[in-house]
Amino acid sequence: MLYAGVDLGTSAVKLLLMDGEGKIRKIVSREYPLYFPHPGWSEQKPEDWFTQTMEGLKELLADSDKKELAGISFGGQMHGLVILDKDDNVIRPAILWNDGRTSKETDYLNQVIGKEKLSEYTANIAFTGFTAPKVLWVKNNEPENFAKIEKIMLPKDYLAYKLSGVHCTDVSDASGMLMFDVKNRCWSKEMLEICGVREAQMAKIFESYEAVGTLLPEIAKELGVSEDVKVVAGAGDNAAAAVGTGTVGDGMCNISLGTSGTIFISSEKFGVDKFNALHAFAHADGHYHLMGCMLSAASCNKWWMDEIIGTKDYAAEQKQIEKLGENHVYYLPYLMGERSPHNNPNARATFIGMTMDTTRADMTQAVLEGVAFALRDSLEVAKALGIQIERTKICGGGAKSPLWKKIIANVMNLKVDVIESEEGPALGGAMLAAVACGEFASVEDAAAKLVRIVDTVEPEPELVAKYEARYQQFKQIYPTCKPLFDVLV
Ligand code: XUL
Repeated sequence: MLYAGVDLGTSAVKLLLMDGEGKIRKIVSREYPLYFPHPGWSEQKPEDWFTQTMEGLKELLADSDKKELAGISFGGQMHGLVILDKDDNVIRPAILWNDGRTSKETDYLNQVIGKEKLSEYTANIAFTGFTAPKVLWVKNNEPENFAKIEKIMLPKDYLAYKLSGVHCTDVSDASGMLMFDVKNRCWSKEMLEICGVREAQMAKIFESYEAVGTLLPEIAKELGVSEDVKVVAGAGDNAAAAVGTGTVGDGMCNISLGTSGTIFISSEKFGVDKFNALHAFAHADGHYHLMGCMLSAASCNKWWMDEIIGTKDYAAEQKQIEKLGENHVYYLPYLMGERSPHNNPNARATFIGMTMDTTRADMTQAVLEGVAFALRDSLEVAKALGIQIERTKICGGGAKSPLWKKIIANVMNLKVDVIESEEGPALGGAMLAAVACGEFASVEDAAAKLVRIVDTVEPEPELVAKYEARYQQFKQIYPTCKPLFDVLV
């Protein structure tokens, strides 16, 4: 049988077709616009997601036996707020995970409701990108829109709804709403009340590997597939990527270098750290995970290459980089503010340390290194919690660069396991569909059978020492700039 995985990303939807042996038959991708209506705001149209997903599915299935399609599932950009009215119309554009407009609401939640209460109700505190502050923002700033809300959903759940007619979500994505009791895997009554919403407006909760229903007849007809195709809940993109890289069970680590950058640690037991420095979320394998998320990772390199240098040949630029560990330029990667660990929407990107002999290659190197240093900030938090990590998987667009993988391995002093396919969320989505259709006994079983490590990038002691010294300097830049960021807003 065949399984489709849909990775609803921030710049494009990527669709992957996998067979029951785990062989990837085809991958297609469709872009859609991203809107920045004010500095620090970030929006997309859910209708664009759906149109492009349908077109992508048609292209994906074009040269396969359509009768073989058994299930569709998802990995989706997390935290985005999608609101529908009583006629199922989208009320306003979706407010995305990297949108920083909710400072006031976030401060209200963390300071007036209080971090302790939030952590008790949801296992997390408020960050500007999370969904609950966005619900409050709509309530405070667009009361006419708030009054119209019939259904609240997350980005990938809008796709599941349009495909199956079921208002559903999964435990991993729901965890990022700050409206979900992560430990008990149910909606938090207290948080719904704080946000002024009713449980009837919220989606039905599923485990990521559960079918929510089947395709609506008109959708099945349009795609030319059976009405019995299962629509499977799926996961937030990071949990789906973790499935796709085999980061399941206990104590495994995955780094995702996509638009955002995340470090994801799987855990069989529920746990929250005292300062809620890392997100404590439910995992798609039925257990839990901890995660640090930086808002701009591969997007920093894309911005630097596309917008500033003006090239599409990323590899040619990276070829000029010769002196790893010896750069005099530093880069803070906070193009959209920062989530983990600084939780500061006012933070901004910065280059520092240039001299008259600084080259274009030094600047490119600084961008790649700055992202690695910022990921290390989250790794340090995990280490301070007593979590021992020696190796990690890696996925996402940035993971295609051998140089960037080497920088990550040495800045973080981790063995980086490269897997056969770095298509994290799309592959994870297809694997979740296969589990729901009975192809595998569990998510862990699917990961054990399908994920293959093809290479390991080992840290080199001399380079690790050089990067250690540079990280100690990098760490001082943000606290020094912070007071300035607050006045620059
Ligand atoms: C995770 C997060 C991002 C988005 C990117 O908390 O906000 O990784 O999911 O799509």
